[in-house]
Amino acid sequence: MERFLMTIPAVPEMTSEIWIGRGFPDPFLPERGYRRTAAIFSQHGAATVARRVFDAVGTAPLMYLPDRDEAKTMAVVEKAYQWLAEVPLGRHDTVVGVGGGAATDLAGFVAATWLRGVESVMVPTTILGAVDASIGGKTGINLGGKNLVGAFHLPSRVIVDLDVMDSVPTSLRLEGLAEALKSGLIADAALVELFEKHGPSAPLDEVVTRSIKVKAEVVGSDFREDGRRAILNFGHTIGHGIEMAAGMPHGMAVAVGMVAAGAISAQRYGFPSQWLTDVIFSLGLPVSAFGVSRGSVLEFIGMDKKRTAEGTRMVLLRAVGDPVIDLVGDEEIDLGLAAVGIGSSG
Ligand SMILES: NC(=O)c1ccc[n+]([C@@H]2O[C@H](COP(=O)([O-])OP(=O)(O)OC[C@H]3O[C@@H](n4cnc5c(N)ncnc54)[C@H](O)[C@@H]3O)[C@@H](O)[C@H]2O)c1
Repeated sequence: MERFLMTIPAVPEMTSEIWIGRGFPDPFLPERGYRRTAAIFSQHGAATVARRVFDAVGTAPLMYLPDRDEAKTMAVVEKAYQWLAEVPLGRHDTVVGVGGGAATDLAGFVAATWLRGVESVMVPTTILGAVDASIGGKTGINLGGKNLVGAFHLPSRVIVDLDVMDSVPTSLRLEGLAEALKSGLIADAALVELFEKHGPSAPLDEVVTRSIKVKAEVVGSDFREDGRRAILNFGHTIGHGIEMAAGMPHGMAVAVGMVAAGAISAQRYGFPSQWLTDVIFSLGLPVSAFGVSRGSVLEFIGMDKKRTAEGTRMVLLRAVGDPVIDLVGDEEIDLGLAAVGIGSSG
């Protein structure tokens, strides 16, 4: 397995070991003399991997969470705390999160807050989880709005088993590829070329590894999102509005959001938006959202606090690998929405 360290130069005591390869590292948990036990949180979709983690850790108890974002609630957090009290999980013990982003977000939040913070180790089992959610220490639960309550808490180790990535079903795979393409567009032209050349059959090992490295590098340069980390939101401003207004899965909505942001980038900077739309389409991802109400998308963008009187804060591309965070006016947002089939009559 390949192992590299994600470091936060501004906070040198914080590092995350990221392992990428086939299988698990041995030992599974980072060596720590004073650990007595660990507790595993997982979800049913990741049960096969959770059982392997259970065997690899040894004596750790395992709790299954409700599926998807049903896991990210205060009620589940409370149940998790009660369970950790029964385990009991002490200050020098470890929380292990196994699953997609919802399971690792919940496990990470519980680890960040239990006994004022204990070690966490993440085993993502979706591509989106591997290239995005489990990397970079953002944890959170939903309370009214998405991820409104959370904490920055870097896992000491993230284990990405490429055999698990290969087994992810197509729709989840596509969602992950949208985030991977985003990573390429903001910071890794060679990753975009892989998609251009191979479409959806781009070699997953390289796609996952390169995307993780982009995220780790960006987060390392701006852990608490004071500035540059926001470039990871390319495609997410309008994408998130469409996700909320249309109930479209996150990765698919990000794909449409990237088409919209590409059109605005074309107007401002001459970015080749048709080329981007073609790449996204060739992956089997959606490039439009006909029939979705413009009013609702705008409302959700507003609720996201990205839209103010001065405009909407968006990531645009001057070129592949050259993102810029800009304030965008309502007319340009409309241009982006029109590019994905969302018109002013809606
Ligand atoms: N913390 C972050 O930085 C960050 C970044 C991006 C997304 N997220 C969060 O991640 C969540 C979405 O993540 P996700 O798409 O991984 O979803 P998820 O955790 O909701 O999982 C999606 C589905 O896949 C199933 N599943 C998990 N592993 C599987 C496997 N190997 N094979 C088949 N099915 C499997 C799950 O049971 C679930 O039904 C959202 O809650 C989002 O807010 C967090």
